Amino acid sequence: EESSTVSLAVIPGDGIGPEVTAEAVKVLLAVTDGGPVQFELAEYPLGAEHWLATGETLPDSTLEALKGHDAILFGAVGAAPGDKSIPSGLIEREMLLKLRFSLDHYVNLRPSRLYPGVASPLATPGTVDFIVVREGTEGPYTGNGGVLREGTPHEVATEVSLNTAYGVERVVRDAFRRASERPRKKLTLVHKHNVLVYAGRLWKRTVERVAVEFPEVSHDYLHVDAATIFMVTDPSRFDVIVTDNLFGDIITDLAAAVTGGIGLAASGNINMDGTFPSMFEPVHGSAPDIAGQQKADPTAAILSAALLLRHLGLEKEAVRVERAVEDDVAARTGKPRTTAEVGNAIAAAVS
Ligand code: NAI
Ligand code: MG
Repeated sequence: EESSTVSLAVIPGDGIGPEVTAEAVKVLLAVTDGGPVQFELAEYPLGAEHWLATGETLPDSTLEALKGHDAILFGAVGAAPGDKSIPSGLIEREMLLKLRFSLDHYVNLRPSRLYPGVASPLATPGTVDFIVVREGTEGPYTGNGGVLREGTPHEVATEVSLNTAYGVERVVRDAFRRASERPRKKLTLVHKHNVLVYAGRLWKRTVERVAVEFPEVSHDYLHVDAATIFMVTDPSRFDVIVTDNLFGDIITDLAAAVTGGIGLAASGNINMDGTFPSMFEPVHGSAPDIAGQQKADPTAAILSAALLLRHLGLEKEAVRVERAVEDDVAARTGKPRTTAEVGNAIAAAVS
């Protein structure tokens, strides 16, 4: 095989971000060691700490530099809730969302799997193995809103959900394609079209139209409130869920809880056209309550690295990481291990 180099940007971020990212990088290097593909790393300091130190959120020059990489591995950003030194939402909007929008990460992929040996808070979870394809560039997250008379009794605040035929269609088609490649071949649209009628109709019509291209995939529909019921009472009914940015944000936290917690939930912010690098990150945040103590579970970051490998076409390496995680998780006894101990064990297993 011909050898090649993957140019990887690493954004460790704040809190436990650097701790879990270090383990994900360790595993990436271990699984590719001696193989034809080598990772070349470039680290970017960004996040709340970086803003406090420099006043920068995401300078255009940094954004341009990031565009030159093949992929991005991201930890987490954000200060402790209630920390008054950073305006609420600043880092989210000017850094994280700016990255997702500028790099056109229209597929926010969040797999949910209950691994053997992991305790679910559900008494009888059954087999849980589904993916949520969350739209990543539209919905209520575009900053399409404003405020009048802020702080007065006559305050007016708007936050308009933006849904384009183009944006909905490309993510729906991606979800159908993913469903067609899975054994159960089932897609569920989650929305709220009885109340959010205009956006809801666009989503529903788009699913009906794209479904014709995928006759082997069955599809159904759930209102988002009903979807939260089934996620708890019967999560095994789901295979591929496609939904908008906000609903996807909320139901994937629930999905993470049902499948054993936020320490295991991985995600990818994917640009399927390849025009810009895709970015892979654990679903969790910077966890200021346990930061710097080597208490964080790096598994979500490591599974995000597996998604990164798969996105780059390194399927064998991705599967090796996922198998190693599966074995590690199954062997967990409840005895606490440090973040690095977990990372070392998984890195050793893929070497
Ligand atoms: P969080 O996900 O950071 O933490 C929630 C709870 O889960 C905490 O008790 C934390 O200790 C625990 N936890 C999270 N990850 C864990 C891990 N790997 N292992 C073990 N326990 C873990 O959410 P929170 O507390 O709401 O937010 C903290 C900061 O993170 C905020 O500034 C928030 O804005 C930011 N955030 C950033 C995200 C990102 O960078 N993509 C996503 C979510 C939140
Ligand atoms: Mg969230």
